[in-house]
Formats: sequence, C-alpha cells, structure tokens
Amino acid sequence: MRVGIIGCGKIAQIRHIPEYAENPNAELAAFFDLNSERASEVARPFGGRVFDSWQDLVSSDVDAVSVCTANVSHAEIAIGALRAGKHVLLEKPMATTAEECEAILAAERTSGKLLMIDLNQRFTSAHKLARELLASGEIGELITFRTMFGHGGPEIWSVDPGASTWFFDPKFTTLGAMGDLGVHKTDIIHFLTGQRIVEATGKVATLEKRGPDGELIGVDDNAWAIYKLAGGQVGTMNASWSHHGKEDNSTVLYGSKGIIFIYCDPDNQVVVEKPGATARKFQVEPIQTNDNQTKSGAIDAFVEAVLTSGQSPISGEEAFASMRAVFAALESSRIGAPVEIPENM
Ligand SMILES: NC(=O)c1ccc[n+]([C@@H]2O[C@H](COP(=O)([O-])OP(=O)(O)OC[C@H]3O[C@@H](n4cnc5c(N)ncnc54)[C@H](O)[C@@H]3O)[C@@H](O)[C@H]2O)c1
Repeated sequence: MRVGIIGCGKIAQIRHIPEYAENPNAELAAFFDLNSERASEVARPFGGRVFDSWQDLVSSDVDAVSVCTANVSHAEIAIGALRAGKHVLLEKPMATTAEECEAILAAERTSGKLLMIDLNQRFTSAHKLARELLASGEIGELITFRTMFGHGGPEIWSVDPGASTWFFDPKFTTLGAMGDLGVHKTDIIHFLTGQRIVEATGKVATLEKRGPDGELIGVDDNAWAIYKLAGGQVGTMNASWSHHGKEDNSTVLYGSKGIIFIYCDPDNQVVVEKPGATARKFQVEPIQTNDNQTKSGAIDAFVEAVLTSGQSPISGEEAFASMRAVFAALESSRIGAPVEIPENM
C-alpha cells in the first residue's frame, strides 16, 4: 500500500511515519507540508516524492494518505483525498464544525474508500481491558465516571514550539484544549461504556496561555464538561493545557459494586477496587505521554483494514458522535445552559 503523508510535523514524525515504516505492507511514497524543507527532510530516508501541494499529492498514485495538518484544514484535505479515490487516516479532531464533519462523511460515502479517525486512545491495552471489565459486570452497573487529560500545553509539543504555535491561533484551530485533548477523553467514554453522550453542560476558559503579543490566546486552554449518557449516568470530563508537572490521562469508572481506575497508578494501569476485597491490579502498558511515545497501533490497524476487512477501525460516524459532544459542551459554555444532543440519542 503506497502512502502519502500530508503535514509532516510532530505527530507525523513520531507516530505515522515510524509506524508505516515498520509495517511491511506499507510504503512511504509521498510527502507534503506547507514547510517544504521539512517535507524534504522527512521524505529523504524513504526516497519519498515531495509534492508542492496536497492536491498534487492526492492526484498521484498513492493508495492512502495520513492527514496530519493543523485542525482547520482537516475537512478540506480529507474531502479532497476521498474524492481523489484515496483511503484516509485523518488526525483528531475530525474537523472544526459539525458541517465539516457531515461533509467528510458525505465524501466518504460517495468515494467508497475507507476513512479512519486517529482517536488512538481506543487502542491502548488498559482502555481495552477496562472496557471488557465493565462489560463483564466486574463493578456492577455503571453509575458515574470522571475522565481527564492534562499536560503542559501544545506550545511545548509542536514541531514549531513557542507562543506562535498554530494550536493557539483560532485561524488554524478554533477548538482549543476542548477539541485537542477533550475529544480524546470524550471519545474514550463512548468506547469504554458503549454508550453515547446525549447531553453536555460545558465550561471553557482561557486561564494561562498567551500568544506572541502577550495577550491571552483566542481559544480555551482549560475545558470541563458534565456529560449525561444515554443510560442516564452522569460524569465529568476535564481537558487542560495547564498541568505543569506529570501528565494526567486518567479515567475512573464508578459502578454499583466497585471502581475501575485507569492510568491512576503508574505501575498498575488498571486497578479494580471493591468493598471488602483485595484490589485487583493489572500491569498492561504505560500510557503514551508527550515524553514517552510508544507504538500506538493505529497505523497498523489502518493498513490492515484497507488491505483486508475494508471496515474502518474508528469510523467517521463514531468520531462525529464524539465531536457532537464536544461541540455541545462548547455551545453550553457559550449559552450557560445544558445542551442536548438528539443525534446521539
Ligand atoms: N492522535 C493524537 O494523539 C494526536 C497527537 C498530537 C497531534 N494530533 C493532531 O495532529 C495534527 C497535527 O498536529 P502536530 O502535533 O503534528 O502539529 P505540529 O505543529 O507539530 O505540526 C503540524 C505540521 O503540519 C503542517 N501544516 C499545517 N497546516 C498544513 C496544511 N494546510 N497543509 C500542509 N501542511 C500543514 C505544519 O507546517 C507542520 O509541519 C493536529 O490535528 C493534532 O490535533 C493528534
């Protein structure tokens, strides 16, 4: 399978490119980045062709593309690639508006090609184990939950670090911490519980991050949501770019007979506690952090799906359901009232 990389920044360099390179069924054939020197540099070890535009790249003979660009360009490029007959692995967040998500899904339907959204937290062993434990009734009926993703901010992470990062600029993102980190944890609640979020009460704030002009940035750097699930359970989600210390990527599921802790204890990634019983501790694998990147498995899943099943491991429809919850939380913050999500009911 011949693959093109569109956007050759941090996530392309630490996940997409090395994981395709290790996959015997994938060939890194084409590269494009607005920064052409960067594209040439990352293409060199693979002898890949560097293109002058994403339009030229998707018109070439590649079979599939990874879209790893700034958020505002996700929809345009994913739609262009699907229309050009390419399979698409699209980075999260799927897009920046519900209309864009719908347009991507329409392009997927008419193209007949495979679309996967890189909500890679679904692939971690701890999340898969916790999902099985919950489904097996290990903690009885789910009552409530809390989930969190916090780190020091994308201005440390980006390939172009510093206050002028595109992550801080509404022209290139529009979504802030809620869309950047919150979408992962919103989606993981869907994945763990097998239920959709049907109502969101949100609050977003810009508390800390400043742009190159010294002013607070135009997107949120901290975000909260109270989510109600289709089954009536209510829990919280928190995303933050202001955790100056150890990253927090934890989730806790509270059931009628016990509690499942995920990524709360660094040595035991899943812990089950029940009243009167010794805690069950599971050592599966440490969560990826910005400083500790391990293989995500998302790229292998994409390649395998294209070459064998034709079924997307994380479909656009599933990702859109999580995006709807994020958009509802943002709308709730704006209007100061809970927002229902009828499409998720
Ligand atoms: N799944 C995950 O866990 C995860 C983690 C980090 C980033 N991401 C997502 O990956 C995407 C890229 O983030 P990053 O961390 O690599 O950012 P980055 O700043 O490190 O790199 C972005 C790269 O994209 C290029 N670019 C931006 N807009 C472009 C366009 N329209 N056409 C071509 N190139 C363009 C930039 O020049 C830069 O090289 C974002 O959507 C981000 O949300 C996902």
